Amino acid sequence: MAAANRNPTSILQHLDEIPFSIPGETWRLGPKPELIKASPDRVTPPCVYFTRCGGCQLQQMTETRQASEKQRWLVDLLKGVASEEKILPLLPSPKNWNYRRRIQLHVGPKGEVGFYAVKSRQVIDIESCAIADPALNAKLPEVRRLAAEVLAAPKRPASLSYELTLRDDGQVEIARDGEGRSFIQVNPEANRVLIEVLRRALDEIRPKSVLELFAGNGNLSYSLVTPERPWLAVESNPLAVEAGRATPAPEGSGVDWREGEAAKVAAQLYQSGKSFDVVLLDPPRGGAEDCLPMFRQWRPPAILYVSCHVPVLRKDLQVLQKSGYEVEWLQPIDFFPQTLNLETLIYLRLNPMAHPVKK
Ligand SMILES: C[S@@+](CC[C@H](N)C(=O)[O-])C[C@H]1O[C@@H](n2cnc3c(N)ncnc32)[C@H](O)[C@@H]1O
Repeated sequence: MAAANRNPTSILQHLDEIPFSIPGETWRLGPKPELIKASPDRVTPPCVYFTRCGGCQLQQMTETRQASEKQRWLVDLLKGVASEEKILPLLPSPKNWNYRRRIQLHVGPKGEVGFYAVKSRQVIDIESCAIADPALNAKLPEVRRLAAEVLAAPKRPASLSYELTLRDDGQVEIARDGEGRSFIQVNPEANRVLIEVLRRALDEIRPKSVLELFAGNGNLSYSLVTPERPWLAVESNPLAVEAGRATPAPEGSGVDWREGEAAKVAAQLYQSGKSFDVVLLDPPRGGAEDCLPMFRQWRPPAILYVSCHVPVLRKDLQVLQKSGYEVEWLQPIDFFPQTLNLETLIYLRLNPMAHPVKK
């Protein structure tokens, strides 16, 4: 018999070794691992597709246990970059189920409509998704009809998917192959938590100017701009910039927009002598590698970095630390309950005594 209760290690490693296990449990290993002694934190997953569908990894454990595993995961991953006392306790998502307002449904060769299976491109046909908003689930029959029409045509596409988005007006948008899409935060309630934490940070910093890189359609910008802190938002997706420009700002304040690559626009701003009290970054999963080196010379006094991918965050933080930035605190927020994803906000301040270290 082998056991999953060896040395405590990260949840990621555990799940890699024994999928759907919980650290501390005893399992008999083999081609079909068998649970021998369950954790007190084990619960019956409510979703019938769990373990086949690749979307969720953590439904087997209570939300409290999910939170402690994610916290430990973050602390482990950031060892040597951020000390444990700088990492604040994970803020939960206000909703643990039915929280997603956007899902991507794939279509299989036999007309299956659903999500990719664990570590494969096989489509698991689903009737509904337990973490999707009910308004999205209600559209599944329509997606099936649309997919059936496409598959019935003489020339089948090599791949077919539909992206469903619950808009602010309550309507569900169905976009074939994600056409014409721009980014949205998929968990609107957790998004509000992030905005409140950012608001508190900005109220403490009291900047007179904010540069936001990777601004999307202005989700953060319009929630946080005030007449006291003029805002410049940079984004490369023209659709997002168009939506951002069309959004009214709160009375007396304004958001300026620049469409373009964050690193290029930031370099132009630096070269033209502009300075900002705070730079807010919310890059995609690949991180903000291209933008960071210029901070060594530009030296904005504070950086607020929103990360959706901790391993990349680690690399980016190392670059910023070499440029003289120190981590004030990190605030993890559980944007994606039941899954192994995590959103983290990091507040960094320039140590004016620190001399940028050469690469
Ligand atoms: C994680 S999203 C954040 C969006 C926004 N902060 C929000 O809360 O909705 C990242 C955004 O960066 C944009 N983006 C990706 N690469 C970029 C680049 N090189 N320069 C500028 N924007 C980029 C994407 O189009 C996307 O809108």
